Amino acid sequence: MQSAVSRILLLVFCLAPAVGLGCGGAPISDDAQEEVRLEPAGEYMRDHFEQVRGVQVGVIRGDLAAAKAAAKWVARREALEGAPKDWEPYVAQMRTAAGEAAAAPDIATAAVATAAMGSACATCHEAMQHYPQFLATVQPPEADETLPHMTGHMWAADRMWRGLVTPSAASWEDGVAALAGDPLEGERIEPKADDPARLAALAARVHDLAAQGGGVAEMEAREEIYGRFLATCAECHQLLGISAE
Ligand code: HEC
Ligand code: HEC
Repeated sequence: MQSAVSRILLLVFCLAPAVGLGCGGAPISDDAQEEVRLEPAGEYMRDHFEQVRGVQVGVIRGDLAAAKAAAKWVARREALEGAPKDWEPYVAQMRTAAGEAAAAPDIATAAVATAAMGSACATCHEAMQHYPQFLATVQPPEADETLPHMTGHMWAADRMWRGLVTPSAASWEDGVAALAGDPLEGERIEPKADDPARLAALAARVHDLAAQGGGVAEMEAREEIYGRFLATCAECHQLLGISAE
């Protein structure tokens, strides 16, 4: 099972080239002046995104301890020195959501709090009228074998997350549309569980939640769907023991 865990990590980071993050390459900006002005925040933000990403990865893997540890880091971090005063309410909103994730008694609560962190990002970007640019990644082909199907899930989750945090209707709809195909059949899922019907129900729920997300533009509604969506990834991975190290 260990290999699946490390692959989850790898996929999450490499499918998530938020500008300035790991596999993504150089920041995109068509406004050089703005880039210079905001330069000091760059490194601070990057560390921040990596930890927020860590919360997300922990949740998807079904690894509550890892999700909570990353969330605790975000919740406790000192504010950026010299940050504009008008950032404060949004930073506080982020901290509150991170605190909820850090204190989560179960993975479903952590998933909901992760989505709330996403809304905090989006609320600030909207307030600042700064919409982050993300590098495009190629959508994996649809597949009915477990592993390649999961690669598609990861891509979809990442797109939906971008849609939530930017906020961006185009990214959100991309992610949702990627799950328009059929869910995995319970019997086909490897490794096998004692209860294939339960697996099939979880597989179907991922696709159902994405379908419910289609056309949803309100941040709160996206947050709600995304939280339940992540919780479903976590539930299946926990059930199969994929998160165990
Ligand atoms: C307090 C307000 C605030 C919060 C909260 C916030 N951001 Fe930002 N974000 C900004 C501003 C302003 C910039 C542009 C300035 C900069 O790059 O330093 C930015 C830049 C970015 C960038 C860099 C790419 C670009 O186009 O500038 C990314 C990626 C990003 N934010 C994602 C996120 C994510 C993900 C979260 C939540 C985990 C988040 N932000 C939370 C205000 C915020
Ligand atoms: C119905 C059960 C089920 C659900 C729901 C589910 N997964 Fe999985 N996932 C699996 C199984 C089984 C594996 C392990 C496959 C293996 O290692 O052979 C896996 C592995 C993965 C991997 C690792 C893939 C690799 O290359 O090793 C990623 C990434 C992943 N899942 C992402 C997700 C995301 C994101 C979601 C939710 C949107 C999700 N999964 C929902 C069953 C599920």
